[in-house]
Amino acid sequence: MPPDHDAARFAALLHQHRDHLKPGDAIPPAIVPAVVYHLPGSPEAPHQYGRFHNSGWTVLEEALGMLEGGPAVLFPSGMAAIAAVLYARLKAGDRVLLPSDGYYTIRALTERFLAPMGITWETRPTRGFADGGFEGFALVWLEVPSNPGLDVCDIPAVAAAAHQAGALVVADTTTLTPLGLRALDLGVDVVVAADTKAINGHSDALMGHVATRHTAMLEAVRLWRKFAGAVPGPFEAWQVRRGLETLEVRYERMCRNALAVAQLFSGHRAITALRYPGLPGDPAHNLARAQWNGFGFMVSATFSDEAKAEKFLSGCRYLAQSTSFGGVHSSGERRARWGDAVAPGFVRLSLGIEPTSALLAEFSRALDAL
Ligand SMILES: Cc1ncc(COP(=O)(O)O)c(C=O)c1O
Repeated sequence: MPPDHDAARFAALLHQHRDHLKPGDAIPPAIVPAVVYHLPGSPEAPHQYGRFHNSGWTVLEEALGMLEGGPAVLFPSGMAAIAAVLYARLKAGDRVLLPSDGYYTIRALTERFLAPMGITWETRPTRGFADGGFEGFALVWLEVPSNPGLDVCDIPAVAAAAHQAGALVVADTTTLTPLGLRALDLGVDVVVAADTKAINGHSDALMGHVATRHTAMLEAVRLWRKFAGAVPGPFEAWQVRRGLETLEVRYERMCRNALAVAQLFSGHRAITALRYPGLPGDPAHNLARAQWNGFGFMVSATFSDEAKAEKFLSGCRYLAQSTSFGGVHSSGERRARWGDAVAPGFVRLSLGIEPTSALLAEFSRALDAL
């Protein structure tokens, strides 16, 4: 599914460190749970202290940087990566534009902690994000596609208009991963992502990263990590690196399963509204086809009411009832239970790597039982 240059990049990622290996070295990178390093005399050394460096972070940062097309800095969660960008960049008097329909915690963080420090903020829906222009914003934040509504905006057009107005453009591309969307190539200044989701893929470690080609921004988020102490654990970095090795095959199966499930849902009597950018009639389809690789692994389906939605979620054996997304197991939840501005019967589904025919048979049985 990924175009040739992505395929070559992913193959290279799997053999990234071969040139550094000596005979007898382990092929998988080591976990180094060190806080202190041998540091006699001058402290100039590649590793000095556990909050400054870890060889396991570096290995994963190099891999993520290769996929993003720009240097990456690792953080212990997606929110830690998001917070690093906001705190490293913003100052009192700055104005920020956030998506009104994106992941809610960034708005909560801004309201609770940034606004009292003199930062003002506004929100706008992702669809039509450029309407109203970007004059006066220091920072413009995109989430593509928006989570959970799966709406999109034209990234190069937004980036160009926001740059014209003097803003820094940041994109959260968690739901697509860099295999699905290389936002730096589309003109965005900074990418953030929760590697907790599909990059790790096994729902057993939190992680996040920032990627940027802007030297000053890169330096600022690195310093933020060092001074604020938001550092990943060596074991979690190792887990996520191992997960990343299979991302390409997982992503392909997950996208295929999402399309198959969306086609099954489309027109079914139990579903009142459906969003999947891979469906030709979906409002996001044309932009997604032009700017992404694949159409992602998330489907948003609305059932007539809360009870029907809950019956489907609990009645479908191949659906983990959990929050979050991007795992090898298909999962789903009603987003209204967290306060998202969606209908009570709105369900966000994340499709996993189950064999497509078995998944479809079970989804079909659970739907028909409603
Ligand atoms: C789009 C998006 N960005 C960021 C995050 C935050 O990631 P984490 O839970 O790793 O902090 C999430 C979490 O659900 C998310 O959905």
